[in-house]
Amino acid sequence: MNTLEYIEKHKERFLNELFELLKQPSISANPKYKEDVIKTANMVREGLEKIGIDKAQLYETAGYPIVYGEKIIDPKLPTVLIYGHYDVQPPDPLELWDSEPFNPEIRDGKIYARGACDDKGQFFMHVKAAEIMISTNTLPCNIKFMIEGEEEVGSENLETFVKNNKSLLSADIILISDTGIIANDTPSITTGLRGLSYVEVEVTGPNRDLHSGLYGGAVANPINILCKMIASLHNDKKQITIPGFYDQVENLSQEDRKRMAPPFNIEDYKSELDIEEVYGEDNFSTMERNSIRPTLDVNGIWGGYIEEGAKTVIASKAYAKISMRLVPNQKSDDITALFQNHFKSIAPKGVKVKVTPHHGGEAYVSPTNNKGYIAASKAMEDTFGKKPIPIRTGGSIPIVALFEKELGLKSILMGFGLDSDAIHSPNEHYGLFNFFKGIETIPLFFKYFSQ
Ligand code: BES
Ligand code: MN
Ligand code: MN
Repeated sequence: MNTLEYIEKHKERFLNELFELLKQPSISANPKYKEDVIKTANMVREGLEKIGIDKAQLYETAGYPIVYGEKIIDPKLPTVLIYGHYDVQPPDPLELWDSEPFNPEIRDGKIYARGACDDKGQFFMHVKAAEIMISTNTLPCNIKFMIEGEEEVGSENLETFVKNNKSLLSADIILISDTGIIANDTPSITTGLRGLSYVEVEVTGPNRDLHSGLYGGAVANPINILCKMIASLHNDKKQITIPGFYDQVENLSQEDRKRMAPPFNIEDYKSELDIEEVYGEDNFSTMERNSIRPTLDVNGIWGGYIEEGAKTVIASKAYAKISMRLVPNQKSDDITALFQNHFKSIAPKGVKVKVTPHHGGEAYVSPTNNKGYIAASKAMEDTFGKKPIPIRTGGSIPIVALFEKELGLKSILMGFGLDSDAIHSPNEHYGLFNFFKGIETIPLFFKYFSQ
């Protein structure tokens, strides 16, 4: 039986199994869901065991367990290490979902659920592809699985696990489906991820909330000040004003930039987002702004009175969460330090500023001339009928740069999602086309990589 016949015969079961995973609210960010996250880890482990993966087990960490398993058919053959994550982002705002986030539903050929694309639907393609290769006796090399439960909160414990388990994780390549393609008729392979530096800021003015009539105008209002400070972090050219921020950013030649430009229709982009105009750093295209250029964005801002009606008050404190996406050569810790110093330096007297760093990670680039990339390219060309385009993406998977540093391994980012799959948003979904195309493509990667 070939791959397509196997998929056809077992398609309903594949979907039912995925649905069981999607029903689990494995939200790593919220301790309330601890039991659910652990239950999901156990389900993933059982899923590996059931298809004939050996040594399927949970490795406990200071946080959530790592699911590991392997099938070593011959130590002399190459080994592919599959990485994915079984944790998901919180589903809120709940009221914007058209169906329950943890009650998966198929509409218009798409699976709607939190984690459908990021990353349960995608790592599960690898489990099913492995099932096919094992049960049809076509697994051409060794395979290892490492599915973690803390990707959405920074993978800190995985970092420790990787450093302490280098021989367990020895492999020739890492294969990951946690990114996307340009479109269902335009396959692509991700060759770059941005890094991340994430901080939280707190601005304190007076020692208590004040009547905005009695004190307004006479003391610094921390919310006004915070807004002003944040606004000053970009100039008129929409460049970031933190001194030294761009020092390590590589200056790509016009030629490189032209070569890297993916097909893109700006009118479709604007109409899909219902915006009249795009916005971003001068002298760069939209696709450059969201991939090869670093950014600074406020992710949340709060303070003062936000309930019903009006309350005349000057709050004592104002807060914001700020992310900076980084490009190759920028170091996350260095950028965090630059931000910290700069943000404190621009605060007027009359407020106190606290900057708390959150998780971060380095950018990643992968060459297109290595064995792994070529195998992925051939595999996708076979199943899509078109050669995939290498693209750099704006998202981050911080652990990928760490894999390279600690294990000396390149990662192939052969994802099958679409930017429109609404990952991290209400109504996240994953196309049935994409799910089954992934399962069909993965065994071909193994075949070409083993040749
Ligand atoms: N799978 C995403 C990253 C991604 C998605 C990369 C689509 C490229 C295309 C991953 O789960 C994610 O959300 N990463 C976070 C970083 C993490 C430290 C929270 C991100 O990019 O915000
Ligand atoms: Mn992901
Ligand atoms: Mn994610």
